[in-house]
This record gives sequence, structure tokens and C-alpha cells, in this order.
Amino acid sequence: MALSSLFTTLLIGLLLSRSQLVIAQLSHDQTILVSVGKELGVSGWGLNSSDYCSWPGIGCSSNNSMVERLVLSHRGLQGNVTLISELKALKWLDLSYNNLDGSIPPAFGNLSRLEFLDLSANKFGSSIPIELGSLRNLRALNLSNNLLTGEIPDELEGLENLQDFQIFTNRLIGSIPMWVGNLTNLIVFTAYENGFSGKIPDNLGLVSELQLLNLHSNQLEGSIPESIFSTGKLEFLVLTLNQLAGNLPELIGNCRGLSSIRIGNNKFIGSIPKAIGNVSSLTYFEADNNNLSGEIVSEFSQCSNLTLLNLASNGFTGTIPPEFGQLTNLQEFIVSGNSLFGEIPTSILRSKNLNKLDLSNNRFNGTIPETICNTSRLQYLLLGQNSIRGDIPHQIGDCVKLLELQMGSNYLTGSIPPEIGHIKNLQIALNLSFNHLHGVLPPDLGRLDKLVSLDVSNNQLTGTFHLH
Ligand SMILES: *[C@@H]1O[C@H](CO)[C@@H](O)[C@H](O)[C@H]1NC(C)=O
Ligand SMILES: *[C@@H]1O[C@H](CO)[C@@H](O)[C@H](O)[C@H]1NC(C)=O
Ligand SMILES: *[C@@H]1O[C@H](CO)[C@@H](O)[C@H](O)[C@H]1NC(C)=O
Ligand SMILES: *[C@@H]1O[C@H](CO)[C@@H](O)[C@H](O)[C@H]1NC(C)=O
Ligand SMILES: *[C@@H]1O[C@H](CO)[C@@H](O)[C@H](O)[C@H]1NC(C)=O
Ligand SMILES: *[C@@H]1O[C@H](CO)[C@@H](O)[C@H](O)[C@H]1NC(C)=O
Ligand SMILES: *[C@@H]1O[C@H](CO)[C@@H](O)[C@H](O)[C@H]1NC(C)=O
Ligand SMILES: *[C@@H]1O[C@H](CO)[C@@H](O)[C@H](O)[C@H]1NC(C)=O
Ligand SMILES: *[C@@H]1O[C@H](CO)[C@@H](O)[C@H](O)[C@H]1NC(C)=O
Ligand SMILES: *[C@@H]1O[C@H](CO)[C@@H](O)[C@H](O)[C@H]1NC(C)=O
Ligand SMILES: *[C@@H]1O[C@H](CO)[C@@H](O)[C@H](O)[C@H]1NC(C)=O
Ligand SMILES: *[C@@H]1O[C@H](CO)[C@@H](O)[C@H](O)[C@H]1NC(C)=O
Repeated sequence: MALSSLFTTLLIGLLLSRSQLVIAQLSHDQTILVSVGKELGVSGWGLNSSDYCSWPGIGCSSNNSMVERLVLSHRGLQGNVTLISELKALKWLDLSYNNLDGSIPPAFGNLSRLEFLDLSANKFGSSIPIELGSLRNLRALNLSNNLLTGEIPDELEGLENLQDFQIFTNRLIGSIPMWVGNLTNLIVFTAYENGFSGKIPDNLGLVSELQLLNLHSNQLEGSIPESIFSTGKLEFLVLTLNQLAGNLPELIGNCRGLSSIRIGNNKFIGSIPKAIGNVSSLTYFEADNNNLSGEIVSEFSQCSNLTLLNLASNGFTGTIPPEFGQLTNLQEFIVSGNSLFGEIPTSILRSKNLNKLDLSNNRFNGTIPETICNTSRLQYLLLGQNSIRGDIPHQIGDCVKLLELQMGSNYLTGSIPPEIGHIKNLQIALNLSFNHLHGVLPPDLGRLDKLVSLDVSNNQLTGTFHLH
């Protein structure tokens, strides 16, 4: 029996020359493609049957004509994609942005040479097939933007070559498995907009050079693991809208290339570590709606590229560090809903790029500086609900770009400067209510014909004006 089967093998080997073997495979892939094209309604295939390697979306190997790349994104495809698993030489499969539904075919687990698999932006449902764990050569797996349910299967643990692992915007649940932290090549991991719970694995980033971690909009709890900062390669960190608690680790200062930190809407406590000053690439820092406290650290001023700083709705106290005047790229400075006091920070107002200054709902108790718009191009000046005293300076008219001016609930005195009526762009709101303003309403206010909301109530004002 053994002898006869050996003989058969030899015979076949002799009968089929190398080129015949290639041709056999060649026509095999062609047959598969024709079927796949029919099933999915791919346009532009089969017209030129002699040269399927030149059909749109297909790439063949150079030495023979086996299909290695199949790129069929944005083609409105529907139907059964299972047959694609017969294209044994596939290395690159991109079916993103179609209307594919049902389960991801378990047979894709047979594409053992696959390095890139992108099934994102379809309607694939059910759970992630465990068979995908056989794709040992996979470097990128993108299942994002589907309707996938269940947990991340532990069988994927063997995907040791994974660099990009993207599963955002699905209906996945359970915890993020510890083995994700053991993927030594992992660079990008995105799992946002799912139902993940439990803790972020405390080995994540320990053995790989993680650059992008985005886990926003889940139900994750526990603290930020120090491990994600350990190699210092992190560039984007997004953890917004979870139940995370604890302190922001000092080790964050290790990541000079970290440009975006978004940790708003969690339960973080404690102060921001001074090491933040070592994060020299920092561009966005968003930590609103937490329970952070202490003073706003002046070290932020070392992050010269800082464009947005949002610390709203926390427990910060103290004054705004004058060093913030060095932040010439700052566009939005938002610290509403804290317990900050002192003067309105004139140093920040020197920044030519400042577009939004939101100091509302604090205890600021200074006066409005005459230089308010000497250099800045403010569109949003939000100073309501503070203890700001003194007169509104006539120079407020220099704020020609203003869309919204909120100064309600302060201790402002004097009269309303007519120059406010010359801020032609003012359209969202002008709110001077609940102050101690007196005198006659300037008729010029009637020139603000784009204004949607005007509130000058609860002052000692007289007179009327007409809208032009
Ligand atoms: C097949 O396609 C190639 C390249 O697109 C073209 O040059 C050739 O004329 C086509 N042959 C037939 C039979 O349509
Ligand atoms: C063709 O090249 C690939 C690598 O690109 C190699 O794996 C395969 O063995 C080659 N096939 C033949 C028939 O030479
Ligand atoms: C898709 O096709 C395969 C065979 O190619 C078949 O086994 C499978 O049941 C089909 N799936 C669906 C959902 O029809
Ligand atoms: C994978 O390929 C083997 C051999 O061709 C076949 O028996 C098996 O059914 C395939 N697996 C899947 C999940 O289709
Ligand atoms: C899916 O992920 C891969 C790897 O990160 C990426 O190259 C690709 O652009 C993503 N696909 C889409 C449609 O964003
Ligand atoms: C991760 O790797 C470490 C060290 O190799 C090993 O001890 C641990 O069991 C692994 N964890 C998982 C969940 O695979
Ligand atoms: C910031 O970096 C400097 C220089 O590498 C280092 O000496 C210092 O300890 C770091 N400070 C913090 C708070 O991480
Ligand atoms: C600031 O941004 C610019 C432009 O993106 C970049 O060239 C520069 O290296 C950044 N500076 C720091 C300190 O990261
Ligand atoms: C916020 O922190 C303070 C102490 O710093 C604590 O008293 C308070 O209960 C915390 N609030 C929330 C909502 O966790
Ligand atoms: C502003 O408030 C702080 C803290 O309550 C206080 O120490 C300071 O004297 C006040 N400044 C003015 C000008 O009232
Ligand atoms: C306004 O800025 C100019 C330079 O842009 C400066 O010369 C002038 O002194 C400033 N005015 C005030 C009141 O600071
Ligand atoms: C104006 O501001 C005050 C105090 O912040 C607020 O109570 C009031 O609702 C605002 N008016 C309008 C029209 O929004």
C-alpha cells in the first residue's frame, strides 16, 4: 500500500512538469475569480479572460500568476465571500467599505500566507471566527466598523506578527485579553466604540513599541497601566468616555513623541504630573470631566506645540501660570467648571492663534484687561459665572472676530461700551446678564443683525434700541 502510493506520487511528479503545475494552479485561481466575480457582482472582470492578473483590484506574483492581492474596497459588493479562501497564495485581502454581511467566513483561516486582512466598514455580524487564529503571517487585521458581537477569541493569541489590530466600532464585549500585551510587534491597537469592560491589560506596551492606543467609549475601569509609556514610543492615547480612575502616571514624561492625550469623561484623580513638560510633541491635551485637582502645572508651557488644552469640569485650583504666554500655538484654552481664581491671564491673550478662551464657572476675580484683543483673534470669549470686576473696556471692540461673548453672572460695572455693537461677526450670543452694569443701552447694539441670543437682563440699564 505504502509502496504503491509512493509510486503514484512519483508518476504524477513525472507526468506533470513544473510548468504544468503552474498552469494547473493558474486556471484554478482564474476559475475561482470568475465565480467570486459572479457571486459578488464585481464589474470589469472577465472581459479579458486571458489576462486576469490585469483585472482591476487583482495583483499576481511575479514568477507565476497566482493571485496575491485582492483589493475590492468601495465597490458596493454583496454576497458570499467564502470562495475567496480558495485563492491560496493571497497575501493581501481588502474588502473594506462594501455591504458584506453574515459571518466572517471561517474558511479565511485557510489563507495561511495572508499578511493583510481588511474587512472594515461592512455589516459582518456574529462573533469573530476562531479560525482567524491560524493566520500566523498576519501583520494587519482590521475588522472595524462592523456589527461583530461576542468576545475577542483567545485563539487570536497566536497572531504574533500583528502590528496593526483594529476592531473599533463593533458590538464586542468582555475584557481586552492579557495576551494582547504579549504581541511583540503591536504598534496600533484600536478597540473604541465597543462594550469592553474590565481593566486595560497591565502589560500592554511592555514588549512592543506601541504607538497608537485608542479605547474610547467603552466601560473600561481600573487605572492607566504604566506599561503603555514604558518604551516611550506612544504617539496617540485616547481613553475618553470610560470609567477609568487613579492618577495619570508620572512615566508619561517618557513619551516625547506623544502628541495627543485624550482622557476626558473618566474618573481620574490627583494632579497632572510635572513630567508633562517632557512630552515635547504634545499638541492636544483633553482631560475634561474628571476629578483631577491641584494647580494647573506651569510645565505645560514647555510643550511648545500645544494647540488645545481642555481641563474643564475638574477640581483645579490656583491661578493660570503666566508661563502659558509661551504657548504661541495655543488655539483653545478651556478651563471652565473649576475653582481657579486671580486675573484673566493676559499672557495667554498674547498668543496670536488663540481662538477660544473659556474661563467660565470659576472664581476669577480680576478685571478685563484692555489688551484683551490686542494680538489674539478670539472667536469665543467665555467668562460667565466668575467674580470679574471693573468696567468692560472700550477695547473689547478690537475683538472683531468674536462669534460669542459670555460675561453673565459677574460683578461688572460701568456702562456697556458702544464698540460691542461694531463686532459684526457676533452671532452666537452676547450675554452681559446678572452684572452691575448701568446707563443707557448703546443704540449700536442694534447693528448686531446676526445675533441669535442677546441677554442684558438683571442689570440697571435703561433705554431701547432697534435692530437694523
Ligand atoms: C486585455 O487587456 C489588455 C490590458 O488591459 C489589453 O491591452 C488587451 O487588448 C485586452 N485583450 C482583449 C482580448 O480584450
Ligand atoms: C514564486 O515566488 C514566491 C515568492 O514571491 C515563492 O514563494 C514561490 O515559491 C515562487 N514560485 C515558483 C513556482 O517559483
Ligand atoms: C457561502 O458559500 C460556501 C461555499 O462556497 C457555503 O459553504 C456557505 O454555506 C455559504 N454561506 C452562506 C451564508 O450562504
Ligand atoms: C481548509 O482547507 C481544508 C483543506 O483544503 C478543508 O478541509 C477545510 O474545510 C478548510 N477549512 C475551512 C474552514 O473551510
Ligand atoms: C484597516 O487597518 C489597516 C491596518 O491598520 C489600515 O492600513 C487600513 O487603512 C484600515 N482600513 C480602513 C478602511 O481604514
Ligand atoms: C505573556 O507572556 C508572559 C512571558 O512570556 C507569560 O508569562 C504570560 O503567561 C503570557 N500571558 C498570556 C496571557 O499569554
Ligand atoms: C525630563 O527630562 C529630563 C531630561 O531627559 C530628565 O532629566 C527629567 O528627569 C525629566 N523630568 C521628568 C519630570 O520626567
Ligand atoms: C512641533 O510641530 C512641528 C510641525 O509638526 C514639528 O516639526 C516639530 O518637531 C514639533 N516640535 C516638537 C517640539 O515636537
Ligand atoms: C473627587 O475627589 C474628591 C477629593 O479629591 C472627593 O472628595 C470627591 O468625592 C471626588 N468626587 C468624585 C465624583 O469622585
Ligand atoms: C482673588 O481671590 C483670591 C482667592 O480667593 C484672593 O486671595 C485674592 O485676594 C482675590 N483677589 C482680588 C483682587 O480680589
Ligand atoms: C498692542 O500690541 C502692539 C504690538 O502689536 C504694542 O505695540 C502695543 O503696545 C500693545 N498695546 C497694549 C496696550 O499693550
Ligand atoms: C446668560 O448667562 C447667565 C449666567 O451665566 C445665564 O444664567 C443665562 O441663562 C444666560 N442667558 C442666556 C440667554 O443664555
